[in-house]
Amino acid sequence: MKAMITTGYGSSDVFKLETVAKPQVKPDEIMVKIHASSVTKADTMMRTGKPYIGRLMLGLTKPKHPIWGTGFAGVVEAVGPEVTEFQVGDKVFGENIATMGTYAEYVTVPEKGIVAHLPENLSFDEAAGMCDGGITSLNFLLNLGQIQAGQRVLINGASGALGTAAIQIARHFGAEVTGVCSTKNLDMVKELGAHHVIDYTREDFTANTNTYDLIYETVGVRSFGECRDALTEHGIYASPVLGMPLLRNMMVTALFGKKKAKFSATGALPVKELRRLLDILLEIIEAGHLRGIMDRSYPLEQLVEAHQYVDKGHKKGNVVLKPVA
Ligand SMILES: NC(=O)c1ccc[n+]([C@@H]2O[C@H](COP(=O)([O-])OP(=O)(O)OC[C@H]3O[C@@H](n4cnc5c(N)ncnc54)[C@H](OP(=O)(O)O)[C@@H]3O)[C@@H](O)[C@H]2O)c1
Repeated sequence: MKAMITTGYGSSDVFKLETVAKPQVKPDEIMVKIHASSVTKADTMMRTGKPYIGRLMLGLTKPKHPIWGTGFAGVVEAVGPEVTEFQVGDKVFGENIATMGTYAEYVTVPEKGIVAHLPENLSFDEAAGMCDGGITSLNFLLNLGQIQAGQRVLINGASGALGTAAIQIARHFGAEVTGVCSTKNLDMVKELGAHHVIDYTREDFTANTNTYDLIYETVGVRSFGECRDALTEHGIYASPVLGMPLLRNMMVTALFGKKKAKFSATGALPVKELRRLLDILLEIIEAGHLRGIMDRSYPLEQLVEAHQYVDKGHKKGNVVLKPVA
């Protein structure tokens, strides 16, 4: 099969197209012919090998998995003898966190991993990025933010993969949603369900008198300190982008004060919890309350260009790779 091999950490040039053996299914695995795989902001950060602490999981001096990529959607091509939930020909999607391998034509996935049947109202392209943006935002809104109907929720970076999912999920839970994005994305963010939009190029959301029960800062450009006055008395600031200041704020607010700063590494959650979140996500999708937002797609061979585009930090929803033309 064709696959993009990762030769080391660094710029987008680390990927090289090669022909390699198709992966073999283990007894409890399925093999998926990939129709779309995601290229995420998290992928591009892992590619750089920084912060170095990430290498404890990814490989100290070079990536331990030759083929990277985690999000996928496609058709089951083979099943191991112990597999009971899936059959050859089933349409599926998911996130292969432990062993990656989705920058390729085929990937093997444990049946009990993060994989589900494709809902009828989701295309392969939409589904490929759904777990990254959807499960992460569900984890932040539900587990960290304890979102409830009627709460005021602000989402910074409302036009990205996490943000576009977050607006729809927060609406699903009955929150009053404010989306912060740039001028070109205001209409999309409104159309996804935001009650209010703020153009960050013209207005600073921390500078007016509005307050929020939850600020979900997906971009990592506004600190807890900057957002503190925009939180309600028991408000929560949650960001998926970890740095030393957030770490310090988490430790301090865990002990003192009513306003809290929070972070979670969603991919490091136990598989049982990720599957629980995936089940909730499926309910939201099947209710017609969550769709995937597609920015652009690239053929598998153009992974370098896809990473260069995602590196810029201005994508709209998701970018996908297409091993099948
Ligand atoms: N901790 C976890 O579990 C976890 C999981 C997944 C991802 N992540 C991390 O979460 C972060 C976000 O990921 P993503 O996939 O959503 O990124 P993304 O798709 O690249 O989204 C970035 C979005 O932010 C907007 N943006 C850029 N500068 C902004 C600013 N100053 N203010 C407001 N919006 C701004 C951009 O819109 P414009 O073009 O309009 O600027 C763009 O749409 C990444 O750092 C990723 O590594 C963490």
